[in-house]
Amino acid sequence: TRPLKVALLGCGVVGSEVARIMTTHAADLAARIGAPVELAGVAVRRPDKVREGIPAELITTDATALVKRGDIDVVVELIGGIEPARSLITTAFEHGASVVSANKALLAQDGAGLHAIAEEQNKDLYYEAAVAGAIPLIRPLRESLAGDKVNRVLGIVNGTTNFILDKMDSTGAGYQEALDEASALGYAEADPTADVEGFDAAAKAAILAGIAFHTRVRLDDVYREGMTEVTAADFASAKGMGCTIKLLAICERAADGGSVTARVHPAMIPLAHPLASVRGAYNAVFVESDAAGQLMFYGPGAGGAPTASAVLGDLVAVCRNRISGATGPGASAYTQLPVSPMGEVVTRY
Ligand code: HSE
Repeated sequence: TRPLKVALLGCGVVGSEVARIMTTHAADLAARIGAPVELAGVAVRRPDKVREGIPAELITTDATALVKRGDIDVVVELIGGIEPARSLITTAFEHGASVVSANKALLAQDGAGLHAIAEEQNKDLYYEAAVAGAIPLIRPLRESLAGDKVNRVLGIVNGTTNFILDKMDSTGAGYQEALDEASALGYAEADPTADVEGFDAAAKAAILAGIAFHTRVRLDDVYREGMTEVTAADFASAKGMGCTIKLLAICERAADGGSVTARVHPAMIPLAHPLASVRGAYNAVFVESDAAGQLMFYGPGAGGAPTASAVLGDLVAVCRNRISGATGPGASAYTQLPVSPMGEVVTRY
């Protein structure tokens, strides 16, 4: 069987791990897919940076030319942000490639639009790595639970803020002190706004709600409140009530089934609840459905290798589909439900 060609867009913390695992696990990947997978090009911003294990002739700064080559089977988009990622993904579909992406911002803004283009071109769009790093969530919701009816998805989907809140809880530290420690240890970005103001979690909530309820939910539909105003005093009073405070993403189907809500805000949860014991930068997501009941997904929600694990799982799935001529679930799986204001739903933990 001919080798399948993979183009990597972006070679940072996650991309370099993807390239490394593609090389070190090449024989296993070929066995699972039924054909070898070959790195055909790597688009980067800084070509002079030393990238161990990646042959220099594969490196390019021209991502557009790479996705237009026409012989690429799978484009793995790890650039992030809206543009140029959106144009590159669209061009990739138009030039015959399927796409694996970890881009939560783009998928939260226009997942349905990208699915529509993928479907038009009869190509795949997979993005397990966009939500909660290594934890399988997209595929379980899109495939394993597709015959069930999911009513609620609730959890901790941002590792940085969970680290900060955990630190405040366990040491009595204030927000700023805990944030400084998270920054010093490399858990928080130089500009932590996207995490601490809840934008990152809201993008993930939009993606999860859309997939869980087979509808379209965008970032702007998600009610969002960050955790910058949570104080040491709040933790003390939560403790007095047998609770702790977590930044939760909550996606719910209204009881009458006619609308959905998605929101992100700090919430008090009882210490006996499994989400209360999620420590450090870990993520955990509860899924509740009619037939399955309660499921909990738990694990590392960020980091190079864990996120690469999710990317590679998608890569294997997409390559298998290329060989069989099938495509995964697409936009036609969606029906539009109204996304209602959050007020109507009372969440019980
Ligand atoms: N900043 C994110 C987090 C990275 O802390 O969870 C993973 O999306």
